Amino acid sequence: MARVFSGIQPSGEMHIGNWLGAIKNYVALQDGNDCLYCVVDQHAITGAYDAASLTRRTQEMAIGLLAAGVDPSRAVLFVQSHVPQHATLAWLLATIAPLGELERMTQFKDKSDRLESIPAGLLTYPILMAADILLYRAERVPVGEDQLQHLELTREIARRWNATFAADAAYLPEPQPILSPARRIIGLDGQAKMSKSLGNTIGVMESPEEIWQKLRPAMTDPARVLRTDPGTPEVCNVYALHKHFSPPEVVEEVAANCRSAGWGCIDCKKVLAANMASTLAPMRERGLALASRPAEVAQVLGDGARTARTMAAETLAEVSDRMGFLPEAK
Ligand code: TYM
Repeated sequence: MARVFSGIQPSGEMHIGNWLGAIKNYVALQDGNDCLYCVVDQHAITGAYDAASLTRRTQEMAIGLLAAGVDPSRAVLFVQSHVPQHATLAWLLATIAPLGELERMTQFKDKSDRLESIPAGLLTYPILMAADILLYRAERVPVGEDQLQHLELTREIARRWNATFAADAAYLPEPQPILSPARRIIGLDGQAKMSKSLGNTIGVMESPEEIWQKLRPAMTDPARVLRTDPGTPEVCNVYALHKHFSPPEVVEEVAANCRSAGWGCIDCKKVLAANMASTLAPMRERGLALASRPAEVAQVLGDGARTARTMAAETLAEVSDRMGFLPEAK
């Protein structure tokens, strides 16, 4: 049984990139592993953000995770800010985290390039992520490809901490990523990674009508201008999405009809929209039902936070002891 940890930001809606890239693995890993899943609200404040909606977004992401199949009887589901040890460990790890590596993180460079004044929290974001994982001494971390660099830094931080403070050399395990076949889902613009901040997403809770409204204008093979132009499925993001939502025989049919111009892009999108809507329907139903039972969701998160705090306190006590802090008298 391995310890598994992962986190997701409460960015408003769980989109199909999150779901295919990571959340399906959260659910699968619950069989036979010891899993903790966290809504990382403290990560969601590292850029300009809307404080008024953070509470609602956090609740919605917790509902999204439950609707996707995170099962509180098999996994600990909690909110990061309910477990103060995350921020404490992040500070301790900040004292050994290499500044040069932090400055080289792709996400930091992308985000800071667009800012005039860069908050320090944007730079130290990966240290908090390392703390999230190492606090539970997790060995496996289901994530999408965009988090691999942060995970490599987590491994480096664990190595440094062990080398400096752990006589047995491995008190903090070096976590391994668990990738899904959908390691990087491209957004509806057909270009950038699917991401809430780019507005190129489809949410897992969207209605069939909303799914269709978003898919209809989605980018396809740019070389296919006229209905009668034959297309190249391999360069089309709608085709890529079919592979995740349509059965194999339909994927073949799509490719053949694209190459022969038997179908236009709209025909192809209609099939995708229907398959996507039916794949997501059970999640949407569970999500809507949970949204009408907020007390139940709060209870799950409360129980999760209590369990997580107990586990976190144990690691933090050990880490503090090894770093030489005076324990408080009982
Ligand atoms: P976040 O909130 O951006 O995304 C949550 C998860 O979804 C994956 N993902 C994708 N996978 C494939 N294609 C996409 N277009 C796509 N977009 C998102 C992400 O890789 C991620 O697994 N820093 C993290 C949150 C975090 C965390 C952690 C993760 C904080 N602490 C500890 C793991 C362990 C983030 O911003 O993910």
